[in-house]
Amino acid sequence: MTVPSALLSHRSDEHLTPRFILDAVIDCLGGIDLDPCSNSRCCPNVPAARHFIREDDGLSQPWDGRVFLNPPFGRDVDRWFLKLAGEYCAGRTSAAVVLWKSATETKAWQVLTGVSCQVCFPSHRIDFEGPGNISGSTFSPALFYLGRDRGRFLLAFEGIGQIWDVPGGCRRVHR
Ligand SMILES: C[S@@+](CC[C@H](N)C(=O)[O-])C[C@H]1O[C@@H](n2cnc3c(N)ncnc32)[C@H](O)[C@@H]1O
Repeated sequence: MTVPSALLSHRSDEHLTPRFILDAVIDCLGGIDLDPCSNSRCCPNVPAARHFIREDDGLSQPWDGRVFLNPPFGRDVDRWFLKLAGEYCAGRTSAAVVLWKSATETKAWQVLTGVSCQVCFPSHRIDFEGPGNISGSTFSPALFYLGRDRGRFLLAFEGIGQIWDVPGGCRRVHR
C-alpha cells in the first residue's frame, strides 16, 4: 500500500486546534502560559503567552505555568505525555489541558490518565484546522485535565461532551 506523502511529511503534524476548544481551555485555565508544540512563532494558532516550535524542540524545554498540549501525533506521542507528567509532578506545570484521542490500549493513554483527574469525551468528532487535516477527523477525541479545579473543567467542557472523573488521578500528584 502506498502511503500519501503528506502523511509522512511534517505537514501531517499540522492539525490545528479549532477555536471552540481553545475558548473552553481558556475558560478552564484562565489563560494559557505555554503551547509547547506550536505551529508558528509569528502566527501561532494557540493564544498562549509563550510558544515552542519545532526548531526549539519543545520536549527539551521547561514547561512553566498553564499548558495547553495538542502534540504531534505519531508512534512516539507518549514522549510528550511523559514530559508533561514530569513537568506537572515537578510543579513547573501548574495545570494543563491535553487534546488527544480515546486510545485506551496505548501506553500514551495510561501515562495521561495516570496524571489527569478528568477527561472530556466530546459528543462529536473534532474537525481540526490547517494542512494536517487532509482527510477530516478520523478518530474519537478526548480532552484531559491536569489540575486542582475539577469544577472549572466541568463548567468549561460540559457543553462539548461527557466529563468523566479519573479515579486517583489527582491524588497521585497532589498529596
Ligand atoms: C498537532 S499540531 C498543534 C499545533 C498547535 N499547538 C495547535 O494546537 O493548534 C503539533 C505541532 O507541533 C509542532 N512540533 C513538532 N515537533 C515539535 C517539537 N519537537 N517541538 C515543538 N513543536 C513541534 C508541529 O510543527 C505542529 O505545528
